[in-house]
Amino acid sequence: MSFPDGFVWGAAQCSFQIEGAAFEDGKGPSIWDIFSHESGKMFRGQTGDVSADHYHRYPEDCRLLGEIGIQLYRFSVSWSRVLPEGTGKVNQKGLDFYDRLVNECLKNNIRPCACLFHFDYPYALHLRGGFLNRDISDWFAEYTKVVIDRLSDRVIDWMTMNEPAAFVGGAYEAGINPPGIPVRFPDVLLAAHNTLLSHGKSIQVIRTRAKKKPIVGLPMVALPRVPATESLKDIEAARSRMFSFRNKRAFSYTWYADPMFFGKYPEDGVKLFGRDIPKFPASDMKIISQPLDYFGLNIYSGQIVKATLEGSSESVPFPNGAPQGSTDWIFVLPEIGYWAPKFIYERYQRPIVITENGISSCLDWVHRDGRVHDPYRIDYIARHLLNIKRATDEGIPIQGYHVWASTDGLEWTLGYKQRFGLIHIDYATQKRTLKDSAFWYRDLIRSNGASLSTE
Ligand code: BGC
Repeated sequence: MSFPDGFVWGAAQCSFQIEGAAFEDGKGPSIWDIFSHESGKMFRGQTGDVSADHYHRYPEDCRLLGEIGIQLYRFSVSWSRVLPEGTGKVNQKGLDFYDRLVNECLKNNIRPCACLFHFDYPYALHLRGGFLNRDISDWFAEYTKVVIDRLSDRVIDWMTMNEPAAFVGGAYEAGINPPGIPVRFPDVLLAAHNTLLSHGKSIQVIRTRAKKKPIVGLPMVALPRVPATESLKDIEAARSRMFSFRNKRAFSYTWYADPMFFGKYPEDGVKLFGRDIPKFPASDMKIISQPLDYFGLNIYSGQIVKATLEGSSESVPFPNGAPQGSTDWIFVLPEIGYWAPKFIYERYQRPIVITENGISSCLDWVHRDGRVHDPYRIDYIARHLLNIKRATDEGIPIQGYHVWASTDGLEWTLGYKQRFGLIHIDYATQKRTLKDSAFWYRDLIRSNGASLSTE
């Protein structure tokens, strides 16, 4: 039961979560650097100052990823490292780091995939209004140009930004991530629009300046719905919940993906949000809807939905004690591996890449035998892949799968307790240990997924 030919097996991480070296070699402070140093914001006051020290240990990390057989490593570039003030003077030492990282990937037969924005950006730009300032789209384009000009002779895989909906939702709508101040709903929509515009302008730069024909996409947030049964009514109920608004919240697939793929905001959202939507020139939608090569889908958990007798739909709660990761929001619902790509493909008609899937645990430690036993992660990934396989068997074009995460890292405000990696990090010594899941994933990659059926 191999996966389709050319299916790409990857792993992903993000600059702020693993690089450390927060104030080294000319890097400017980022919004997360400042926020994580404020008291009470982070689990046990933990910061990204040192983290997994990937900035210095990337050769070892790339070598280990190469040993696992990872075919594509998705990393993110820190805007603050490259342009400490966000615009203007380039920090060559920061840019050099990504240059070395790319070479190290290639040396280990790994395709480097650069994501330009993963929740974090220069604090100096926040002081100029951040994503509430329309100019951010030009600043982001300027930054894209600097990175593209330096790396695109070797990097062909580019992502503009990770999960725009989660970024705007966490930073501006819920206000739990930096800048940490929830804004009024019209400003949430303004931030969303400026985020979309930044994405669009960035793609224009990538497509016009890249030295090698680029593959461009971005990972979208995980909000899948799964039908309670496979009856047509439940399927329709799940599909409609996945793509419709139930309240005034922009946190959704459609508010972000419809402008990117269809060049317009979804009608039901426009009706519901009304005058809260910012005014913008019609030309914006042309910029935002630059063609994308695939729809990147991050999947972790979901909601079960059933049809009601009145012809409406309702969410079915997980039973007490349902299987869960160590973060509250990850309930194990492997059927998302089938339903999310299926629903997304039906609506957006683009090939799919599963750009993140994984589970965190606070039970990953080095055992007396020197190994890290994480059977739950193996089972979680296997179950999701079996569902993904069902989707590919039915002809849904899924081109690849990336485990979140390559190594353990700082799980944002939840700190170092939450471990998602295939590679365990002992933060006291910086020793790396491949977890059991890494060896399992290695065998899976070697067989292009066929080993799943013989387990
Ligand atoms: C984010 C990662 C995060 C992961 C697990 C994803 O949505 O892109 O940065 O670590 O979820 O919470």
